[in-house]
Amino acid sequence: MARLAAGFIIRPFTAEEWPAYRAIRLRALADAPDAFGSTLAAEEALAPETWAARLARSTTSGIDRALAAEANGELIGLAWAKEDADDRSIVNLFQMWVAPEARGQGVAGALLDEAVCWATGRGAQALQLGVTCTNAEAVRLYERAGFVEAGVREPLRPGSELMEQRMRLTLAGPAREEMP
Ligand SMILES: CC(C)(COP(=O)(O)OP(=O)(O)OC[C@H]1O[C@@H](n2cnc3c(N)ncnc32)[C@H](O)[C@@H]1OP(=O)(O)O)[C@@H](O)C(=O)NCCC(=O)NCCS
Repeated sequence: MARLAAGFIIRPFTAEEWPAYRAIRLRALADAPDAFGSTLAAEEALAPETWAARLARSTTSGIDRALAAEANGELIGLAWAKEDADDRSIVNLFQMWVAPEARGQGVAGALLDEAVCWATGRGAQALQLGVTCTNAEAVRLYERAGFVEAGVREPLRPGSELMEQRMRLTLAGPAREEMP
């Protein structure tokens, strides 16, 4: 595997770069169809305005953080953190993907670190995600970062034979008891 010559950076996407976000997200769905609940066909069908609105929301909603991994001016990975709609103490992580040529060099680990940092900064108590049970590389990545399985396994998408497991990383310990 080629080393990333000049290293890589993790940064938030800007709203204007939705075409590049669209391109890497579609590349991810084509590369790893079993890793995501959504599909290439579903997202290819989205109108440009939808992509633009999705990424614009990530910069204005206050509850989203779309993260890009970049090396030598090229996008090589992404992940999307979002506050849970029902429980503000939880941040969900979606869309984690690293380009095949950049894998095994800590890019996903760095995306994860950044998501943890953002979630912790918001006072979230846990980071949660869903991962396909057979996706050993991803499960190992999350376990190494301290995630544990949480919740029941469910089909990746309706009708799919692939099962998805929920994983959870606790970010803040329980409140310390008062000393007597
Ligand atoms: C799962 C995935 C995101 C991992 O991305 P990655 O950037 O290769 O992950 P990392 O480099 O952080 O960690 C992977 C391995 O590289 C090793 N590694 C990390 N930093 C390293 C470095 N600087 N040098 C060498 N190896 C390194 C890690 O120890 C790990 O080794 P392991 O085989 O023992 O697990 C990537 O394979 C992928 O995009 N897969 C398809 C999509 C997918 O499954 N997404 C997850 C959806 S839940």
